[in-house]
Amino acid sequence: MLLPSPTDEIHLKACNNRNIKLFVKRDDLIHETISGNKWRKLKYNVKQCQAMKHDGILTFGGAYSNHLLATAAACHMAELKSIGLVRGEELTIASNHMLKQCAGFGMQLVFISREEYAFRNEKEYHEELVLKYPGSMVVPEGGANYYGMIGCQEIMTETENDFDFLFVAQGTTTTSCGILLSIPEKTKLLAVPVLKGFDSSTEMRRMFSYSGFPSEIIDDLMAQITVLQDHHFGGYAKFNDMLLDRMEQIFNETKIPLDPIYTGKAFVAMLDYIELNDVRDAKILFVHTGGISGGKAIEKGTGRRFC
Ligand SMILES: Cc1ncc(COP(=O)(O)O)c(C=O)c1O
Repeated sequence: MLLPSPTDEIHLKACNNRNIKLFVKRDDLIHETISGNKWRKLKYNVKQCQAMKHDGILTFGGAYSNHLLATAAACHMAELKSIGLVRGEELTIASNHMLKQCAGFGMQLVFISREEYAFRNEKEYHEELVLKYPGSMVVPEGGANYYGMIGCQEIMTETENDFDFLFVAQGTTTTSCGILLSIPEKTKLLAVPVLKGFDSSTEMRRMFSYSGFPSEIIDDLMAQITVLQDHHFGGYAKFNDMLLDRMEQIFNETKIPLDPIYTGKAFVAMLDYIELNDVRDAKILFVHTGGISGGKAIEKGTGRRFC
């Protein structure tokens, strides 16, 4: 595992003559499978599972879930069992390479209906699952819990943590909440949700509140974040040629690989923000949260180089 992950300075034409120092936190380099924020979100879940003497982790994901695969690999490494509840009863281990890899790491895959999957965040459902799969610690989809958030704090403690602006892609908000807990007051966090119509601030408030933060502290934390709502490119896993063109251009200039589902959208949002707000004289960090496997598949399909 490559930890701490590198914080690399990069140079982009878009930042020329602005006196901007731009860095990328290369969490995508942490591990081949448990890459990016996946390791950050799993680290303390794994430790908690061991401390509580559970046999393993039970979690949830779709047919192509990087979180399922990362959980399978992390549990395998920690000699824990893993159970993956997969959305879609029609699926099998042979349905795709991701599920095959999960099984290869020893994950027990259980294919459930979409109706059952809809209960994945319900407490009573978790209680039923623990009775059905004794010894399991239930971890939410995407590693979105307190331990996941605490693990994401470590992204910033591995840097000089003195940035003016920090940009990160947002799905469940676990990563951005963890980052928010660990940055100084002067740093402005800009989160880029990749889902259309996503209510970022409600989700972040929920995450903090589940973790026991009082509302005054949550208000202070939320004052430090701006949500860049308009860079979802149509919604989760949607993208267009404009996004791919810009990712290709970024890759050509920096050799930093991006994916079109999360990090590509966030990087482009950062460049647009700098341009639109005429940002100058600033130290900026882009947190690279990984996610290249989706990018690789699209690269193959389009024949274009952006990862
Ligand atoms: C590559 C990548 N970046 C960003 C995110 C969003 O992180 P979070 O769900 O913690 O907001 C994800 C989802 O886990 C992801 O896979």
